[in-house]
Amino acid sequence: MVSGRGSNLRALHEKAPEQGYVIIGVVSNNPTAPAVDYARDQGLAVRIVDHRQFATRDAFEVALAAELDDLAPDVIALAGFLRVLGTDFVGRYRGRLLNIHPSLLPAFPGLDTHRRALASGARFHGATVHLVTDAVDGGPIIAQTGLTVNPGESPAALAARVLTLEHALYPYVLGGFARGETSDR
Ligand code: GRF
Repeated sequence: MVSGRGSNLRALHEKAPEQGYVIIGVVSNNPTAPAVDYARDQGLAVRIVDHRQFATRDAFEVALAAELDDLAPDVIALAGFLRVLGTDFVGRYRGRLLNIHPSLLPAFPGLDTHRRALASGARFHGATVHLVTDAVDGGPIIAQTGLTVNPGESPAALAARVLTLEHALYPYVLGGFARGETSDR
């Protein structure tokens, strides 16, 4: 599930053969996301559920679930999906709904993580793959990847270095799920 740039989607797709999973579809709330263009270029099944077409979050999430259930994935990976998901939706896919977050959770949930990490004086930073619960960025942690913050580093430079780590970590974690190595399902 994507909303934006799609660099994690690209990494997940490119590394699928080596990790032993198949991306059976891409669901986006944003019809003009670069991630959607990438998915279409790659011949992946794309489903658009535009949240702006729905009066309530519940109605949006019912439509989202209908598309997902039609695709019938074993695992759902949020990859830059920028809508908060409600309790019913999260409960429906509990244990098989993953997210990647650009910080070493539980530090820096929410947005703007790289700038906040630098402002706090953090010496270590990174990214986390976790199961999604209705606590935003608060579900059980599956794996983390980290780096040492460089002196004087800018938020943009730090973000770029963390993103490279994300692209290695997420396919690896999804591979573990595909092989049944992740116990918390
Ligand atoms: C990544 O930093 C990811 O950790 C966060 O949103 C960003 C998505 O980037 N959840 P992309 O769309 O995968 O390039």
